[in-house]
Amino acid sequence: MRILFQTADPANQDAWLRDLRTALPHAGIRVWQSGDTAAADYAIVWKPPAEMLQGRPELKAVFNLGAGVDAILKLNVVPDTLPLIRIDDGGMAVQVAEFATHAVLRYYRRLDQYERQARSNGGEWKPLPPFERSGFGIGVLGLGVLGQRICESLQHFGFEVSGWSRSPKTLPGVKAYAGSAQLNEFLRNARVLICMLPLTPDTAGILNRDTLSQLPRGAYLINLARGGHLVEADLPPLLESGQIAGATLDVFQEEPLPPHHPFWKDPRIAITPHISALTVRSEAARQIAEKIAALQRGEAVVGLVDRNKGY
Ligand code: NAP
Ligand code: GLV
Repeated sequence: MRILFQTADPANQDAWLRDLRTALPHAGIRVWQSGDTAAADYAIVWKPPAEMLQGRPELKAVFNLGAGVDAILKLNVVPDTLPLIRIDDGGMAVQVAEFATHAVLRYYRRLDQYERQARSNGGEWKPLPPFERSGFGIGVLGLGVLGQRICESLQHFGFEVSGWSRSPKTLPGVKAYAGSAQLNEFLRNARVLICMLPLTPDTAGILNRDTLSQLPRGAYLINLARGGHLVEADLPPLLESGQIAGATLDVFQEEPLPPHHPFWKDPRIAITPHISALTVRSEAARQIAEKIAALQRGEAVVGLVDRNKGY
């Protein structure tokens, strides 16, 4: 079996090769170099150049080394008939759940304000009235593999958790909304809005002045999905007016976030460099090996991207 491998992160290339070769000991795995047009049965990629995947009729499937497929679909080089398979959880669900839980509790316990007080004018010792849990509904945009895990984690703290997806869902303890017709109703109850959607033409720019204005006043935004979900220019005026009290952003329109971007200077915005969930190499390699074996046996696999939906 011939496997073509590429990663946009050359520093980890050798570690990936080691883990892939351990999981697929009988495969011939080669790193793609520009100009390599030799045949391959499978491609394993993360943010590949278009050239790598063009004109490869012999490929049986392409594996995307992450959950989001927006970057690879944007290239428009994977034919609709060629299976495109993404990482399904692979150790990322627990990471986004940890991250979202930390961010929610930081806001709910007003730790963001205490951090600012501690740093203001040499320190300010001022207990603030606690927030009521009942008025602190959590809304999760996206009830897929990752969004569902976030919902489960936050329920343990007694928060009212609601979620929004494309198709209707029944999830224990979660008030579920679906489709654009129910978006505003969902937003009206979300004191904290967590975005865990895939980036598609339908969801691009979904975090904007209009939608964020539907949230209760003093709401918090946590975007762990893609920078393209947020209309960045809409956020500063909402923070200024108090409609949004704080934002935790792990993803940005341009990454790395440029040095002079105004978000860096705003103490109400917590910034992390797209790390809310990292692909776990050994787990991803094992998952891909199992899926290749299933495909070879003619079986279905989870994580197959629906090309009509775009995720
Ligand atoms: P998933 O299992 O495919 O779930 C996607 C969810 O979004 C589903 O519930 C889907 O609804 C919903 N959805 C999609 N389009 C919608 C629309 N137009 N309206 C309403 N709901 C919509 O994806 P996942 O594995 O949870 O991953 C989600 C995203 O997280 C990835 O695409 C990636 O961009 C991002 N991510 C970020 C990081 C990071 O480090 N920052 C790490 C991993 C992933 P249905 O259930 O009805 O289909
Ligand atoms: C990371 O952002 C991923 O999509 O896996």
